[in-house]
Amino acid sequence: MKLETALAIAPALALVSWTQEFLPKEAETLNWSKFSGFWYIIAIATDTQGFLPARSKRKLGASLVKVHKPGQLRVVIAFSRPRGCQSREVTLKKDRKRPVFRNTLKGVKGLHVLSTDYTYALVYLRLGRAGSNYKSLLLFSRQNISSFLSLREFLDTCHILQLTKQATILPKDDSCAHTILP
Ligand SMILES: *[C@@H]1O[C@H](CO)[C@@H](O)[C@H](O)[C@H]1NC(C)=O
Ligand SMILES: *[C@@H]1O[C@H](CO)[C@@H](O)[C@H](O)[C@H]1NC(C)=O
Repeated sequence: MKLETALAIAPALALVSWTQEFLPKEAETLNWSKFSGFWYIIAIATDTQGFLPARSKRKLGASLVKVHKPGQLRVVIAFSRPRGCQSREVTLKKDRKRPVFRNTLKGVKGLHVLSTDYTYALVYLRLGRAGSNYKSLLLFSRQNISSFLSLREFLDTCHILQLTKQATILPKDDSCAHTILP
């Protein structure tokens, strides 16, 4: 095995056991119809190179979550990207055993809600095709601001996911987020 491969596997294993061990109980019984609807994305930490535009062009993101049918979610995400405001819609299917949604054909390897009280949520998103893996932590909020505690939890989780250096609080410009208002 190549050294780089070995180094890449170690954090991944640590993360798997972390999510299994620390996934809050509420995520198992998360009420998806209560979770559905419009969310602002207040902060993001991602290891995807070039995902965010230059600092002066950053804006709040947004997500619209709908229960499509049992075990299926329709998720729209809007984000200010280097080429401007972009939105993407994808249908995700729940894993049979775990509270994880995915659509590997569309490059979504997993969407996990790590924690929520339905006014805010920490969403862990794993994207990529085949051998590529990108991880992102998103702070969802029903309002265009976030509480100190949810921000603190976001930053603590960034630390566990080794995404602290990539953590960005987005400027409170809602012009991109509002393109997907229901
Ligand atoms: C889930 O949330 C919906 C919408 O808030 C509510 O009507 C329903 O009673 C909840 N279901 C359970 C099992 O709590
Ligand atoms: C945040 O939302 C509130 C209520 O919808 C609105 O009045 C306010 O202008 C928004 N703030 C910013 C900075 O967009």
